[in-house]
Amino acid sequence: MIEEVPTWNMVHHICPSVPLMPCWLSVLLLFDYAAFPSPPDIRRVPPRFFIPPSNKEVKPGGSAVLSCVATGAPVPYVKWMTGEIELKKEEEMPVGRNILHLTNIRESANYTCVAMSFLGTIKATAQVTVKALPKPPTSLTVTETMATSVTLTWDSENPEPVFYYVIQYRSKASDSSYREVDRVTTTRYSISGLSPYSVYEFRVMAVNNIGRGPPSDAVETRTSEQAPSSPPLHVQARMLSSSTMLVQWEPPEEPNGQIRGYRIYYTTDPDAQLIAWLKHNTDNNRLTTISGLTANVALQSLCPGLHFCRRRTSI
Ligand SMILES: *[C@@H]1O[C@H](CO)[C@@H](O)[C@H](O)[C@H]1NC(C)=O
Repeated sequence: MIEEVPTWNMVHHICPSVPLMPCWLSVLLLFDYAAFPSPPDIRRVPPRFFIPPSNKEVKPGGSAVLSCVATGAPVPYVKWMTGEIELKKEEEMPVGRNILHLTNIRESANYTCVAMSFLGTIKATAQVTVKALPKPPTSLTVTETMATSVTLTWDSENPEPVFYYVIQYRSKASDSSYREVDRVTTTRYSISGLSPYSVYEFRVMAVNNIGRGPPSDAVETRTSEQAPSSPPLHVQARMLSSSTMLVQWEPPEEPNGQIRGYRIYYTTDPDAQLIAWLKHNTDNNRLTTISGLTANVALQSLCPGLHFCRRRTSI
């Protein structure tokens, strides 16, 4: 770029109309300098990196692109070396920038970008590190089992830092696909929202900046029991004789455990509090007979519906 030569017009413009010597003097000096500018091709700037190469982490067999951009006047030559080996021949050496494409990387290596002109040589090194996927966690253990939650612990087994863990779990009852808890940063975690009295399978995998490692060995556990969350179904009652009643039902849809028995409540007064109703316990059957009813009671104690039969919650 050729610098603009100041003119007398510029001098008038820059300095106030009342002539002041210092202004005029400096402008005249500028004029003098600008009248003989250095030719641009003589400006000399030693090489410097505009974009130095950056370190990369790749998985085994992966690829990486290393860029190196250098400026200067004259624009420097740019080449890549690894150790003492030059990666491109001298006569092909580009100026300004050199992009190195590495494929099927098996070993970590250092790559040095060299930028040079007759004003100097500069170097910048990038480390290309082959990094494996994390190892599977070990010692996956169920430390606590509740009706709807399970607490797991495990060991990392990875000397390198692990970003986080992914827990996968599924119910063994239905051949369902795994559900996932992502971005777990501890080696202990409670999974909630499980169904009571169901067998689940769990496994854990570690994630680093390369990706997800293989899963740990799976562990299984059955969540604990919980009171049934739905009533017995299709409750029916009929009189076998004037003093004996047969009551039948189907088990609840959500037993949440192993049914130990049922308790039948019956009354002649459906408006009474449940505590005032008569009780009849039975084992895990689907029918029972209640005898010793008076004729009057029997007439009025036909099964009133779902309230009639309750599961016995303890033996
Ligand atoms: C790359 O250079 C760094 C720093 O000098 C060194 O610690 C590392 O061992 C080198 N890596 C290889 C693969 O030579």
